[in-house]
Amino acid sequence: MTEQKIVLVTGATSGIGAAVATRLAAHGHQVVAGARRADRLAALADAFIDVRTLDVTDRAEFASFADWAVSTHGRIDAIVNNAGVMPLSRMDALLVDEWDAMIDVNVRGLLHGIAAALPHFQRQGTGHFVTVASIGAHQVVPTGAVYCATKYAAWAITEGLRQELDPGIRVTTISPGVVESELAESITDPAAAEAMRTYRADSIPPDAIARAVSYALDESPEVDVNEVIVRPARQR
Ligand SMILES: NC(=O)c1ccc[n+]([C@@H]2O[C@H](COP(=O)([O-])OP(=O)(O)OC[C@H]3O[C@@H](n4cnc5c(N)ncnc54)[C@H](OP(=O)(O)O)[C@@H]3O)[C@@H](O)[C@H]2O)c1
Repeated sequence: MTEQKIVLVTGATSGIGAAVATRLAAHGHQVVAGARRADRLAALADAFIDVRTLDVTDRAEFASFADWAVSTHGRIDAIVNNAGVMPLSRMDALLVDEWDAMIDVNVRGLLHGIAAALPHFQRQGTGHFVTVASIGAHQVVPTGAVYCATKYAAWAITEGLRQELDPGIRVTTISPGVVESELAESITDPAAAEAMRTYRADSIPPDAIARAVSYALDESPEVDVNEVIVRPARQR
């Protein structure tokens, strides 16, 4: 039995975040799960999963989310910054509002999570940042220019954070390949949606990513698992 940790998980109402929250809770960790859809959160709640509505684009709301966890449980041991959106399209479709949404959630949301947790981690002298980036942090594909840019940014922010922090605070980037989830449902561009149906035909269950998160969190304090890429064996 590993030591119980207090773990914040964002984007916990579906896909990878829900799988992470469920797996960590099943292993005895205390999860504080956040996302926007209150009905989904209510369905997720149990003795080991507290739920709070959270829009990661709202910096003050994110700070309150972290502060609530500390006032309720006395500390935060880890934050899994997982919330993300992926409305893919070619640049010449000029879906500028969707570019902004990806920057707001995938980049600003991550930064807000870091800003919310870092003061607590520094006061405690311990903590663990886990960023769910993407294979899109390692390669760019057509229709993915902005999404991949946000994931390259997530990778860079997380790596920069790692270099600056004291060794008591660990930093992990998990980069999934194609995983079953609701992620592609945000694509409004018909050509991009059609291309994704083929690209996403071979996928792995979200628990495959949850296992990677669990592995990184449960390593000994002196071991910092910095990067993991988890993709379908069939994905090239
Ligand atoms: N599935 C894949 O193939 C894949 C591959 C590589 C990387 N990823 C990354 O994995 C992460 C999770 O995605 P997923 O595949 O599990 O997709 P998903 O099923 O669509 O889940 C996305 C989650 O993010 C939450 N979210 C979106 N906007 C939010 C906001 N403003 N504030 C708070 N929560 C927000 C959603 O909850 P609410 O709508 O309730 O807020 C949902 O719980 C993302 O960062 C994604 O980029 C996924």
